Amino acid sequence: MNIILNAIGITKLYQRGAETVRALNNVDLSIEKGEMAAVVGPSGSGKSTLLNLLGGFDSPTSGRIYLKGLEISRMKEKELTMIRRKEIGYVFQQFHLLPTLTVRENVTIPLIFSKKRDNGQVDRILEMVGLSNRANHLPSQISGGEMQRTAIARALIHDPDVLIADEPTGNLDSEMAASIFNLFHSINRQGKTVLIVTHNLELAKGCSRHLHIKDGLITEGSKKILI
Ligand SMILES: Nc1ncnc2c1ncn2[C@@H]1O[C@H](COP(=O)(O)OP(=O)(O)OP(=O)(O)O)[C@@H](O)[C@H]1O
Ligand SMILES: [Mg+2]
Repeated sequence: MNIILNAIGITKLYQRGAETVRALNNVDLSIEKGEMAAVVGPSGSGKSTLLNLLGGFDSPTSGRIYLKGLEISRMKEKELTMIRRKEIGYVFQQFHLLPTLTVRENVTIPLIFSKKRDNGQVDRILEMVGLSNRANHLPSQISGGEMQRTAIARALIHDPDVLIADEPTGNLDSEMAASIFNLFHSINRQGKTVLIVTHNLELAKGCSRHLHIKDGLITEGSKKILI
């Protein structure tokens, strides 16, 4: 078994005024390389919190998170940013594209940030997500599904092993949502581990694993593996 992400007893507390919100409550979870997991559960149950922690965007209040055996939950921000850039691709519901840049330029941004050259991967990835003929369009000139494909291409530009998407089809009609899910499946078949939050149970059905979250707890699909 090849565990790529392992969370041991993670708890995340948020302070909201005088109130302490327990967004995740002592969660154990391990994700194997090559899995395609759907994260489902009611609003406010802790789905985004879980993915933000697994993706190294935030640290747990307590507990440990390992990415490929490296403990990311204790890393300093600088080290974490470097690991995250290399290992994790993140796709948001709202796309977060820069409106004045073309599709190709949006996809290229992470390379510029990390001072890397384009060795042809921009064209390869645009081709893979089906955007070769939209490369020079602005976000305002393409459809919602194409905007999300652009965001997925951008997330893949560093060739990360893990792709995390938080409700990537929440802003799309059902046909576009299904085609974006197909793209995630094909990315998964290419060997990447994919974690997707979705409210769409029909699309979740096609995933190899279902993590049901309720009140900060995973009620199904969790496996406790201690390393
Ligand atoms: N930055 C924050 N400060 C305070 N409370 C927060 C913060 N982020 C999330 N929470 C709270 O933590 C809990 C879990 O939130 P989270 O965003 O993980 O839920 P979710 O399952 O992603 O919900 P949704 O389906 O609506 O996106 C909620 O009660 C939320 O209000
Ligand atoms: Mg959320």
